[in-house]
Amino acid sequence: MTGLETSMKTIEVVLGEKSYPIYIGNNILSGIGEFVKRLQTGPKIMVVTNPTVFGLYGQTVLDSLTGAGFEVCMGEIPDGEEYKSLESAKLLYDTAFDNGLDRNSAILALGGGVIGDLAGFVAATYMRGIPFIQVPTTLLAQVDSSVGGKVAVNHPKGKNIIGAFYQPKMVYADINTLNTLPEREFRAGMAEVIKYGVIWDRDFFDFLEQEYLAVIGLAPHQITRVVSTSCSIKARVVEEDETEQNLRAILNFGHTFGHSFEALTGYKKYVHGEAVAIGMISAAGVAVKLGMFSNTEKTRLQNLIRLFGLPEKFGGLNPVDIVESMYHDKKTLAGKVRYILPETIGRVRIVADVSHSVLYEVLAAQS
Ligand code: NAD
Ligand code: GLY
Repeated sequence: MTGLETSMKTIEVVLGEKSYPIYIGNNILSGIGEFVKRLQTGPKIMVVTNPTVFGLYGQTVLDSLTGAGFEVCMGEIPDGEEYKSLESAKLLYDTAFDNGLDRNSAILALGGGVIGDLAGFVAATYMRGIPFIQVPTTLLAQVDSSVGGKVAVNHPKGKNIIGAFYQPKMVYADINTLNTLPEREFRAGMAEVIKYGVIWDRDFFDFLEQEYLAVIGLAPHQITRVVSTSCSIKARVVEEDETEQNLRAILNFGHTFGHSFEALTGYKKYVHGEAVAIGMISAAGVAVKLGMFSNTEKTRLQNLIRLFGLPEKFGGLNPVDIVESMYHDKKTLAGKVRYILPETIGRVRIVADVSHSVLYEVLAAQS
């Protein structure tokens, strides 16, 4: 074990031949070359990133990779969700081809979820799949999108419509990168973190309540716990149900409502985590109405969401439109919406369909 490695947390995602490590540490980016070398891929590697992230961390990663003997080419895509597209994928295929990437070459995603999903999609499809490495630099990407192998691009008819399950060979998360993340993006990532407490781990939820000031202040010890606990929970869920036949759906707690809030506001008003925060309160409200969840616990959830500066209401939307929009979600199965509802903090249940009158009542109170 190297000196750098002893200072890191390592979580293994156990998926047979597709197993991989998640490394989490503080200020570890300059050591990435040696970790990529262990994967025994070929000498060529394409780094996919955007100008924002490249300006902050690109040179460190390039120096480390070239120092470890890799021949690096860059696949740079403009910053923004609108570039998570088939057009961007084609540009990256061209760059990979022009630089002679073959089946043993790797693609490394350096950035947030947009870069990770796009680079992963290209890695999954270029020459029927080449090694893929995730270097997530947003909180959302470190706690959620870099783990679990969902890769995708958007289509004009819907988000993440064209995609695959394709696991990375390694996730390498440097929490130091969160210091440059815009505060709104950090808070949005916290919605996914709070989600893990509700769906799986009551102690973690307690920790977030107690340590929220240190977490907001990016204290390394607390942030490491935030990222590592989130990744451990996601890893356990994905190991159990990689392709979302059942259990993995619990990761969508708050998302069914959240996707509607995003879609009905044209993906302009909320960043994803904000919509998820409001959606978790909607789901908790439905659970209280169905007698599955206590009002006291719903209030705890609402307070925690507030402590992290996330929104609780979706002003201006019509409950009827929200319910209608949930039927268009790609997660809807055979015309039934599956709701992930809390039973207590630390445990959720999948409930197939809920009466519209309950939904309208809960949503009306939140508008
Ligand atoms: P993002 O990738 O757009 O990043 C947000 C912004 O932060 C961007 O402007 C980016 O350039 C900038 N940025 C990234 N790292 C930075 C840093 N360290 N310092 C300063 N700025 C930085 O957004 P996101 O929230 O990371 O990801 C959202 C995407 O993730 C969506 O496309 C969503 O569909 C996807 N997603 C995928 C999964 C999955 O399981 N694959 C799960 C959740 C979300
Ligand atoms: N973000 C949900 C999932 O990975 O399944």
